[in-house]
Amino acid sequence: MQLLDGKYVSNKLKQEIAVEAVELAQKLGRKPHLVAILVGHDGGSETYVASKMKNCETVGFRSTLIRFENTVTETELLHQIEKLNLDHEVDGLIVQLPLPSHIDPERVTEAIDYRKDVDGFHPINLGRMQRNLPCFIPATPYGITLILKEYGIETAGKHCVVVGRSQIVGLPMSILMARNSQPGNCTVTLCHSKTENIASYTQNADILIVAIGKKNFITADMVKKDAVVIDVGMNRESSNETKSGFKLYGDVDFEAVASKASWITPVPGGVGLMTIVGLLKNTLSAARKEIYV
Ligand code: GUN
Repeated sequence: MQLLDGKYVSNKLKQEIAVEAVELAQKLGRKPHLVAILVGHDGGSETYVASKMKNCETVGFRSTLIRFENTVTETELLHQIEKLNLDHEVDGLIVQLPLPSHIDPERVTEAIDYRKDVDGFHPINLGRMQRNLPCFIPATPYGITLILKEYGIETAGKHCVVVGRSQIVGLPMSILMARNSQPGNCTVTLCHSKTENIASYTQNADILIVAIGKKNFITADMVKKDAVVIDVGMNRESSNETKSGFKLYGDVDFEAVASKASWITPVPGGVGLMTIVGLLKNTLSAARKEIYV
């Protein structure tokens, strides 16, 4: 087994981004700027947004966090988005999900200017991705393609099984792997909560990408020998072993599956770190007006 090391690759790519950020800042007369909107105080969301902001600073971007209480109305939130859409000093704009139940996430997603949608969730970006046109690709799937590229993992002609059909990870990932692109050109199976006998599919996967949000869901008997295994799981459990007070677990039983896989991502230290890189690369592209003017 060899490790797909998200720590190593993310650090390497962040150094490259930092160099490009300096050049761009000289050209623009200001730093690339990401704005994140966070509603409420969900523990996971707090952690992820804090990490996004910190990583922006690390690579020399400006970052702004705008917070709302859970009581914010949809209209107030849409107003704030409208203002940021028009602000020429904002390159990328993300609204952390999930949102409280009285706010429609679809309306919020579509309210964001697609040219600033560095999460790649807007239907224009998703539609363009499907057509293999320049667009913002959702950060986690984008990060996964970057780590596959870095390690030269061959994907063309392989059977890729994606477990989980979320709008953020599983569904866009399945499109990327099926596209005529590099990585891509896979035969793709998309499994989800209604799939009968998931193991019968995962056992035939050359590349197995798991984003189902269940600790140790994938066991060794579900994996083909020498498969490439990508674990997107971010299952938080409270723990008194760590400083933060919680511990992260993947969707894959790492110890057992690692002995069967040819390549595998660890949790933590795998896909989570690559997601940040995907977001940073999208923000750099937005500031450069590389995709949309
Ligand atoms: N919630 C979980 N993942 C994400 C993400 O990538 N972006 C946003 N905005 N919210 C999320």
